[in-house]
Amino acid sequence: MPPGNDRKAENGELKAAAIAHPNIAFIKYWGNADNTLNIPLNGSISMNLGDLVTRTEVAFQPHYEQDTLSINDSYITGASLERVSRFLDIIRELSELKFFARITSETNFPIGAGIASSAAAFAALCMAAAEAAGLKMDDVELSRLARRGSGSACRSIPPGFVEWHAGAGDQDSCAYSIAPPDHWDLVDCIAIVQTDHKSVSSSVGHALAHTSPLLPAFTSDAVRRLADCRKAILERDFDNFAGIVETDSNLMHAVMITSTPPIFYWEPASLVIMKTITRWREKGLAVCYTLDAGPNVHVLTTSDLSAHIVNELGQIPGVVRVITSKPGGEARLQNLSSDQS
Ligand code: DP6
Repeated sequence: MPPGNDRKAENGELKAAAIAHPNIAFIKYWGNADNTLNIPLNGSISMNLGDLVTRTEVAFQPHYEQDTLSINDSYITGASLERVSRFLDIIRELSELKFFARITSETNFPIGAGIASSAAAFAALCMAAAEAAGLKMDDVELSRLARRGSGSACRSIPPGFVEWHAGAGDQDSCAYSIAPPDHWDLVDCIAIVQTDHKSVSSSVGHALAHTSPLLPAFTSDAVRRLADCRKAILERDFDNFAGIVETDSNLMHAVMITSTPPIFYWEPASLVIMKTITRWREKGLAVCYTLDAGPNVHVLTTSDLSAHIVNELGQIPGVVRVITSKPGGEARLQNLSSDQS
């Protein structure tokens, strides 16, 4: 990106901040029809995690010679910075802005461990960078743009329970809220069995999905799973919800395990937790599991049961800690840190 820019910024700096929540997918996104634009093979449904937050500040400056990125006070270089720079290039092209940016991000949850940190990261970055660059975008446009950074980030733009319509191309592949956060008092109790960075990124996994002979089964049945999950959420029907959410998670992991090379995201403790959840549900508890691209187990339950479930999960060997979250709102702009007194 060449230096110099003819946009007029009062103090030379164009700055904005935004927060976004990660989301947990109930019907999963795994495999792209277009890897560059992140157009998925099938739609997906998720819930924003309101207690987990990423806050990102973006400052474009005429005199910066490159983009810089800090996450939780550590400077990030290499592939992660390049990915962020490529995303900012899209915003620079749309806004005709030629400044590099300083990006400062903070999260209150472990990143890279199957808690969809890239979704919250790119949703917050998208909103802050678009605002700082002077782009006036509505939520549909922001969702579409966030998708270019990380597919699942498009689901962290709208509030509550969200469906990503796969679409056929850039224009129609974006996410919409299907119910607000207060529609259903679900709690995600995330049983952390590992906080290290995951070994295989989702981006690599999406590309490998095409090598699995099970991928056609995963995608061809997706419309049914989406309909069943949407209906269960709208009717707050936990039994049907639990069945479809667990089937979908197991199906996605079957695709992962049967890719070449195979990807095993589960750790032994993950399986112990899943089998325990099955037993608890057989005893009549409203509880079910789902896992993203990592070993930590998202245990979904209702708010009246969550304290009990957290306590029980904490006693399973291998569970390091349990993080909880209720449904969350949309990505939104924030005051700049220098404005906060
Ligand atoms: C397993 O959105 O992280 O969490 O588009 O490469 O950033 P990129 O992938 P990402 O994939 C998420 C995969 C998943 C399932 C889901 O969230 O739907």
